[in-house]
Amino acid sequence: MAGSRLRTEVHTFPTPEQTVAAVAERFAAAARLACQSSGRFTIVLAGGETPKDLYRLLATTYRDKVNWQAVYVFFGDERFVPPSDPLSNYRMIEETLLNAVPIPQRQVYPMPTEGISPEQAARQYERQLLSFFQGPPCFDWVLLGLGEDGHTASLFPRRNNFSRQWVAAVNDAPKPPPQRLTLTYRAFNQSNEVTFLVTGAHKAQTVAKVLQAPEAQLPAQKIVPRQLLAWYLDQAAAGQLKS
Ligand code: 6PG
Repeated sequence: MAGSRLRTEVHTFPTPEQTVAAVAERFAAAARLACQSSGRFTIVLAGGETPKDLYRLLATTYRDKVNWQAVYVFFGDERFVPPSDPLSNYRMIEETLLNAVPIPQRQVYPMPTEGISPEQAARQYERQLLSFFQGPPCFDWVLLGLGEDGHTASLFPRRNNFSRQWVAAVNDAPKPPPQRLTLTYRAFNQSNEVTFLVTGAHKAQTVAKVLQAPEAQLPAQKIVPRQLLAWYLDQAAAGQLKS
């Protein structure tokens, strides 16, 4: 693409712990850079199981290595359940990270999931993003996971591309629960830097498809940020990559 400055990196580590530690280091470096240039660090966090150890590491070892007062937290997707629900990504991120670091609550933007329909919630979050960024959202740093079917956030294969939206309501997610909210490709691709954190042998076949089979056209392959696309894999998840 003309003028594209996108750099893609693939980092592989022997263990999940070393992979998570490398992402934490990158997070801290990106935070320093963003704060130097704009005085703030706008991030989008992922749900699911994989990022939990990263959030715990950021909340402990990295607690004093990040200027949390300058961090603004958004969510890549959310299960359409109350924030107190064990399935809630917000609850998981609150428990593993937000309760342990001094980010002002007003700088945390959960996706709304109560007293509102998924469609209304998507429109409301979209308005929040457009108001915060005074225009199209442009996140400094985005964390994403990868599902075995190649989904990321709540963008699933053979589904709507939501090309005209920044936030979408999903009602037929194959990964339970079926009702979710998600940032769209359009929103993710406006961001400066996207990091995929993927571990485990059960993801190896999908990682190989996403990175080495462009014809697969999986959701994770449609994530094309503005500057840096970084994959952080443990040896197990990288196991089917052709060198
Ligand atoms: C979710 C996530 C989802 C997740 C992948 C990987 O709400 O479940 O946003 O996209 O990142 O499904 O999940 P695991 O990390 O649990 O394997």
